[in-house]
Amino acid sequence: MQVYLNGRLIPEEQAVVSIDDRGFLFGDGVYEVVHVYGRSLFEWDLHMARLQRSLAAIKLPTADQDELLRVARLLIDDLASPDGEASLYLEITRGAHPRAHGFPPPGTTSPTILMWVRPVAPIAQETVQQGVPMITVADDRWAKVWIKTVGLLPNVLAKEKAHAAGAFDAVFVRDGVVTEATSANVFIVQNRVLRTAPSSNYILSGITRQVVLELAEARKLAVDLTPFSVEEMVAADEVFLTGTLTEVLPIRSIDGHQVKEPSGPVARQLLNDLHDRASWGKH
Ligand code: PDD
Repeated sequence: MQVYLNGRLIPEEQAVVSIDDRGFLFGDGVYEVVHVYGRSLFEWDLHMARLQRSLAAIKLPTADQDELLRVARLLIDDLASPDGEASLYLEITRGAHPRAHGFPPPGTTSPTILMWVRPVAPIAQETVQQGVPMITVADDRWAKVWIKTVGLLPNVLAKEKAHAAGAFDAVFVRDGVVTEATSANVFIVQNRVLRTAPSSNYILSGITRQVVLELAEARKLAVDLTPFSVEEMVAADEVFLTGTLTEVLPIRSIDGHQVKEPSGPVARQLLNDLHDRASWGKH
């Protein structure tokens, strides 16, 4: 498989990053994950807009979007089955420089840019029908979660805790309210009103979250962007996750409490609408 690293398409085995890379040393980098549906990049422009916001937030130069799109297309064409589903990963770090916390002096390094596209299996129908079990964990992440940084250790630890408890994933709870999951946003549905945490420093503003809010509006579903508690989540009619690879994924239980409708009509409708939208792909 070919990957893109610093301006070159090379075999995966030859793609090597320096031991001085600041992404490796400090988590000093940002990333995006884009869902590829049969050669089409889902919501590429929204992902690029978020990438530029993340880069600006950590004071890295703007990325060349035309070049990234050109490379993305080459990588998709290189897939063994380009008409299936795939995941595109893009990471940009501050580059390699002998270890020191401060930024490298101007002109001494350039960002490391990595992109790959790998096939992904579609989420099993059965998983959508049954819903997934979740646990809750304290959200002890930093206060700039809106930046899509590769510094994901709290997310990794929370996911591992969920797996150890036999759950699929963890829902973060900060100051008594639900923020999001380890790599997805969280929605609840009560009397056909959709609720998800408002945009703030404490959630990653998901592209799928934004798309689902638009799809809900098109379905004339009311949307409420006010924070909700774990108790409200547990008492909701439906609870689901949204994310690039997660799509719209129903939740069946939280800390062992069963959700009323483990795979409810609203989640299933929105998942269908998301799949319809994926097939209109522009890129
Ligand atoms: N994660 N919240 C967090 C913390 C995330 O890491 C993600 C995505 C989301 C959902 O965002 P989107 O709908 O734009 O994918 C919410 C990616 C997929 C990942 O880390 O693999």
